[in-house]
Amino acid sequence: MNFRFIISLALFLFLNFLSNSSRTTEAAPTYLEHDCPNTTLVAPNSTYRSTLNALLSSLSSAAAAGDADGFANATAGKDAPDRAYGLFLCRGDIGAATCSECVATGTRDILRWCPDRQSSVVWYDECMLRYSDQSIYSVMETVPIYTMPDTGDVAEPDRFMQLLGEAMNDVAVRASGSGPGKKFAVVEASFTSSQKLYTLAQCSSDLKGSDCNTCLRAVIANLPQGKRGGRSFTPTCTVRFELFAFYNTSAVEAAPLLPSSPPAPVNGPKGKSNKSTTIIIAAAIPVGIAVILLFVACFWHRSKTTKTYEVVQAEGGTSELTTTESLLYHLATIQAATNNFSHQNKLGEGGFGAVFRASEWTRNSCEEAI
Ligand SMILES: *[C@@H]1O[C@H](CO)[C@@H](O)[C@H](O)[C@H]1NC(C)=O
Ligand SMILES: *[C@@H]1O[C@H](CO)[C@@H](O)[C@H](O)[C@H]1NC(C)=O
Ligand SMILES: *[C@@H]1O[C@H](CO)[C@@H](O)[C@H](O)[C@H]1NC(C)=O
Ligand SMILES: *[C@@H]1O[C@H](CO)[C@@H](O)[C@H](O)[C@H]1NC(C)=O
Repeated sequence: MNFRFIISLALFLFLNFLSNSSRTTEAAPTYLEHDCPNTTLVAPNSTYRSTLNALLSSLSSAAAAGDADGFANATAGKDAPDRAYGLFLCRGDIGAATCSECVATGTRDILRWCPDRQSSVVWYDECMLRYSDQSIYSVMETVPIYTMPDTGDVAEPDRFMQLLGEAMNDVAVRASGSGPGKKFAVVEASFTSSQKLYTLAQCSSDLKGSDCNTCLRAVIANLPQGKRGGRSFTPTCTVRFELFAFYNTSAVEAAPLLPSSPPAPVNGPKGKSNKSTTIIIAAAIPVGIAVILLFVACFWHRSKTTKTYEVVQAEGGTSELTTTESLLYHLATIQAATNNFSHQNKLGEGGFGAVFRASEWTRNSCEEAI
């Protein structure tokens, strides 16, 4: 056989494989679940059915317009029996194109899954889509609730469940407190030196913060126990955890787990204790003091022309530690933290991660100064 022919064949197969795999990255959304409440049925030729078609097509256009920030609601039909309400929500880290594709698929599939229902929900990994004959905007739902565990069991389940409880508590606080717009957060924590725990929480963007929090507590309590990963969701909120990055880590800034989570008001994951929090606080105090001493020592060495620094009061947000002001802000939070480690103190983003970055910054500045 001709050697050149074999090479070309190999090349052809390789390119074919490449184009196929690149096609699968933007392939159809991953279907998870649907819910068709067994209530009133809708005739295929009814007015409500044509209202639904109009509703779904306006949701699809809203997603395609790309300016929806992953959420939109719509209404269609004039009066009560024939009026329909709908909305979609895309996962907080995905782009407008993927969101639009997922919603488009959803609007086609939902009538296939639930051809004759007055209200329905369909969930994908990338988005969820709902409609109802009742107004659903800003109405929190904790039923139906679905739980999908991964198959693998986790090593050291006790320690894992404790870390998961803390991370879930943290991510729920962040998602429900994230203000108007997306109610979405991700938190990453180290399980072992080589394994990271990734967590995500999201509420429908129309929920109030307090309703979001209530919804997230319900789904967190339903997370699978002792598994390497899993998720739980209702029509208005979702949580997921894995030992691999299941969201686009370059599209969202993950918060490091605040080690100071207050005793989680979550029932599950069960088997939590406050012992580790106490240990962490006990460990944090000397670290905090050491950082302050290092900082003071460093500035002692540096010139005496110190300007007046303001302590930045605003919540840290996602800003990187670049200025002396923000460093001082973080030092102030350390001091505040030694008095009372709690979310209620609005420590903002950063937490431990920032503290370690602070000490690194101090070291570099010292080297510069000496
Ligand atoms: C749905 O309702 C119909 C008629 O009321 C009933 O026969 C059927 O068993 C119900 N299905 C479920 C899953 O509840
Ligand atoms: C809807 O379909 C049913 C039977 O399929 C028929 O009896 C009825 O007349 C139709 N209604 C309309 C408004 O077309
Ligand atoms: C979305 O829902 C709100 C509250 O019901 C309503 O005021 C608004 O008009 C809806 N938006 C659309 C496009 O239907
Ligand atoms: C992840 O997000 C970045 C930034 O938004 C984007 O450029 C990239 O295409 C995304 N990756 C995937 C696989 O969606």
